[in-house]
Amino acid sequence: MAAERVGSVDQGPSMSDKEFRLLSELVYAECGIKLEPGKKIMLAGRLSKRLRALGLSSFREYHDYVTSPEGRASELGNMIDRVSTNKTEFFRERHHFDVLVDETIPSLVGPDGPCRDGHLNVWSAACSTGEEPYTLAMVLADARDKWPRLNASIMATDINREVLQHAIRAVYSKTIVQPVPAHMRTRYLLRGKGEKDGYYRVVPELRKMVTFRHTNLISGDYPFSCTMDVVFCRNVIIYFDRPTQTELFRRIYAKMSPGAYLFLGHAESLQGIEHKFEWTAPTIYRRPVGAERS
Ligand SMILES: C[S@@+](CC[C@H](N)C(=O)[O-])C[C@H]1O[C@@H](n2cnc3c(N)ncnc32)[C@H](O)[C@@H]1O
Repeated sequence: MAAERVGSVDQGPSMSDKEFRLLSELVYAECGIKLEPGKKIMLAGRLSKRLRALGLSSFREYHDYVTSPEGRASELGNMIDRVSTNKTEFFRERHHFDVLVDETIPSLVGPDGPCRDGHLNVWSAACSTGEEPYTLAMVLADARDKWPRLNASIMATDINREVLQHAIRAVYSKTIVQPVPAHMRTRYLLRGKGEKDGYYRVVPELRKMVTFRHTNLISGDYPFSCTMDVVFCRNVIIYFDRPTQTELFRRIYAKMSPGAYLFLGHAESLQGIEHKFEWTAPTIYRRPVGAERS
């Protein structure tokens, strides 16, 4: 079959099958994201702006540049920022936050729980533009009404530097904050005035609870030394293949305290992956309470 080229003069240079293979292998090696052949148009579209910015006329030239020592230092991050999919929202998969309040927090900080001192280390492992960690912060701050000693530190990581900048700014439009329950909007979001009308900023009290760090989940080099009590690793493993998922969950398990909870996205599960977690409910797993720290 003749190699298909995608793209046109108007959209920028076309991408051959060979160029797609080279670039998708690079993306896989660098961040674990598996791009199936059907993603060629998407990849060409997302990277064509970078070619223009660099004055390059083909994806082959782009590949050669981004794999050169200079390109690795200056362009690889831009490429990763372009290829990762960052869709997220406040209170996404809302039932997880209900489970967190009704079951997870009581079982961790209750009188027999492993965190009865009230301190929880929480990790939002692929935090995108921040809606997930700030939702966690709102829910955990609210839960203090019932658990006054509750005190949480949230580590929020992502491979994409642009989304992390957005997350650190903590400013969201009216449409984006729509899913936040009204009482939490009043309590945890500051309404912009004047030229910032229509925008909301997360209150300092919640911003202080969250630390953002640039992290590649598949590198295994995680920016914290504590073990986590709650891990949200949602809607990211869908982009990884089985061997990458298996290795990732081996590492995540090692970073969790005995009794800690793991939340996955609605389309994700540990089925077919070798692991030591206990199944708690669909998309929710636990490191066994009696498990020794590894
Ligand atoms: C679809 S978003 C999910 C955001 C949030 N967890 C949620 O469920 O709404 C996936 C995020 O995973 C990040 N990501 C992809 N590969 C990654 C990797 N190897 N290491 C860290 N983050 C990664 C992307 O940059 C993106 O922000």
